[in-house]
Amino acid sequence: MGSNLQLNNQIVEYINNHSLSLHPVQKKIIEYNEKLGDIKKMQISTSQCHFLHFIIKILNPKNILEIGTFTGLSTLTMGLAMSKESFIIALDKNYETSKVAKFFFEEANVGKKIEIMINNASTSLDKIIKSNKSFDLTFIDADKENYINYFEKSLNITNKNGFIIVDNVLWYGDVANRQKKDRLTTKIREFNSFIKKNNKVESVILPIGDGLSVCRKI
Ligand SMILES: C[S@@+](CC[C@H](N)C(=O)[O-])C[C@H]1O[C@@H](n2cnc3c(N)ncnc32)[C@H](O)[C@@H]1O
Repeated sequence: MGSNLQLNNQIVEYINNHSLSLHPVQKKIIEYNEKLGDIKKMQISTSQCHFLHFIIKILNPKNILEIGTFTGLSTLTMGLAMSKESFIIALDKNYETSKVAKFFFEEANVGKKIEIMINNASTSLDKIIKSNKSFDLTFIDADKENYINYFEKSLNITNKNGFIIVDNVLWYGDVANRQKKDRLTTKIREFNSFIKKNNKVESVILPIGDGLSVCRKI
């Protein structure tokens, strides 16, 4: 069996410095989030920005759904990478952070290609399902308790060969530590087992940022 590199901050910094450069507005969002204190850790990591950029370039999804927008880093990353014909619907329940995200989308000139629905994500998803929309790619990064619910609803409106990408599936590595039995670690473990058993998708977990589950609808 091949060996795996143990990543540390020094190696991650090296990787980031030798990968894609971020767009000035992506950098502005990161600077803005820095000032928010501890909740800045909600934003996706730079290596996840790089990954999302590439997967959008490779797959060229026309309709993108995001669950969990915060101040907009992941949404903007996808919005900058997607084609001119593509569109994003972004879901978040927080009015204030959505307003900030919208400001950054407009500054990066992608505001017209992104609609933010401000409501409980489950309610917004029901509305989207009723409207008969379907998606080529969904990025899930909201409340972990609802991951299975979000995944099931999203899968129903994902086109064949479409992708669902889910953040935080390694949960700081705690999912693999048997001593950890707290509620959120347990929820993420349940989610990962649910995906493993789900025969409607094939999936891989990638150790990028806090762990991404990349699922393709069969
Ligand atoms: C981890 S953050 C998303 C980070 C974002 N993807 C980024 O890169 O900056 C999670 C977001 O989910 C939102 N959220 C949490 N529970 C929610 C719910 N029930 N419905 C809608 N949004 C929710 C929060 O308001 C928060 O903005």
